[in-house]
Amino acid sequence: MGRSPLSVLHRTDANGKPVPDVLFEKTFQSLMDEHGYVHLTGLPDDFDPVAFGRRLGPLMPHHDGALVAEVRPAPTADGVYYPGSTKAFAPHTEGYDLLGLPPRYLALWCVHPPAGDGGETTLADTRPWLAGLSEQNRQHLEKTEYDWTNPHGELGIAFRHPLLDEHRGSTVVRFSVNNIVRDDTDPVAALQSAWQRLFDEQHLAISYQRNDMVIWDNWRLLHARTAFADPHRHLRRIHIAEAH
Ligand SMILES: [Fe+2]
Repeated sequence: MGRSPLSVLHRTDANGKPVPDVLFEKTFQSLMDEHGYVHLTGLPDDFDPVAFGRRLGPLMPHHDGALVAEVRPAPTADGVYYPGSTKAFAPHTEGYDLLGLPPRYLALWCVHPPAGDGGETTLADTRPWLAGLSEQNRQHLEKTEYDWTNPHGELGIAFRHPLLDEHRGSTVVRFSVNNIVRDDTDPVAALQSAWQRLFDEQHLAISYQRNDMVIWDNWRLLHARTAFADPHRHLRRIHIAEAH
């Protein structure tokens, strides 16, 4: 079971009045700086998640060109759901297979929450894990470039990157439990098991109400999801680049 999120920002105050925009954004920024993610709750139907996301940086297209991705199980022509479309995902960062920098932020919001258990977005912060790495280990992760297999199959191309990068003073983490090409004696194999275990122990779980939005720093946090049964679960997703 994941922990409850600590970084939760409600759109209205205790009197039911919207928190003024300037204060809302200030609270958002301080929660993001502290925790690396914010779960927005109490959002009205006229809240504009795309506009909110664009304030953090320019949107990046998904692999099919869409700026806003529909995240829902898609039935085939016979009305059968692909079994993978409701499955759990292992912890990873997004966009390790891109030529350049991965998206700085990811945002998901809920169009239709799943009935029943599961379908949570799960998150964990790598910052304390990085702080605990030996200098030797850290240097290996900064200097050694790996091949990453492509999670989108035939559609894209994977590029070589180290697990730890630096961009204008920020650490950029790239990580996948399954998609790094390495042999079993490589130090990254031990790191993958260690981070999977830490993720299992420490992750928080976002359980969606309608309109809820979660935004996280994809250079810092790992994300995954829990399996679910309800094929009507429907989220939307944007990838936000680092602001220039
Ligand atoms: Fe992902």
